[in-house]
Amino acid sequence: MYKMPNAPDIRQLFPDRVFTACCRIEDKDYVLRREEYDAVKDAVTKRRNEFGAGRMCAQAALELQGTKGFVLVRNPDGSTAWPTGIIGTISHSDLWCGAAVARQSDYAGIGFDIEALDRITHKIAERVLIDREMDWVSRQPGDENRKWFTLMFSAKESIYKCLSPLVGGDIRFSDAEIIPRADGRSFETRLTEKISSRVPSSLILRGRYLLHEEEMFSGVVLIKKQAP
Ligand SMILES: CC(C)(COP(=O)(O)OP(=O)(O)OC[C@H]1O[C@@H](n2cnc3c(N)ncnc32)[C@H](O)[C@@H]1OP(=O)(O)O)[C@@H](O)C(=O)NCCC(=O)NCCS
Repeated sequence: MYKMPNAPDIRQLFPDRVFTACCRIEDKDYVLRREEYDAVKDAVTKRRNEFGAGRMCAQAALELQGTKGFVLVRNPDGSTAWPTGIIGTISHSDLWCGAAVARQSDYAGIGFDIEALDRITHKIAERVLIDREMDWVSRQPGDENRKWFTLMFSAKESIYKCLSPLVGGDIRFSDAEIIPRADGRSFETRLTEKISSRVPSSLILRGRYLLHEEEMFSGVVLIKKQAP
């Protein structure tokens, strides 16, 4: 794993055979390839910096996986075009960025997201969470609503990145119910029939999260169900 000092260990969000890299955006040390630069040539500096840091992490993760020097262009829908046989995911917040990659032969999908706790207000949560999720948060002890709201939001973003290449982009926030587990680091996901009917029944989503310096990091993979 490639990890800058003080960066969260995002490797723990994923099972074996997933390769990750994470850094502060301000630590970016990467010159965009010409074709990568085309995607942000008209963007503001903040966007160029986060895009460059994301590409740096993605290249570092790919190198750990064994792929070097592949130019990561952007697809027309904004998603990243990964090398054949590889799946990958990138996220950035204002401070952090990270990427995770794996072989398609190992996992059917992968998603990663970073979200700052101060972004997901009660008002946003009411738009993004379903009633059962709001009920779940209201039953939790302590004053941790922001943490749970942010986890649920971030998990839904990770799920979108993981599933959209497989089922198409028509996934709504209400299509995934996030159920945090008691272990404090993983969550279950219940998908609506509209989405689950488009995912082969042999596959299952696995999600984990970690909190680092007021930012929520979540990761999901789509794996083959274990034989009983
Ligand atoms: C696409 C989306 C997930 C990006 O998330 P974000 O929080 O805005 O930005 P992040 O920094 O976390 O992720 C950016 C990365 O996502 C990927 N991405 C961008 N557009 C994408 C798309 N249409 N589909 C899949 N991945 C996409 C790219 O790798 C991008 O990296 P880059 O900008 O460095 O090239 C978000 O804008 C979105 O559309 N969310 C909808 C979520 C949703 O409906 N969820 C419900 C599912 S339950």
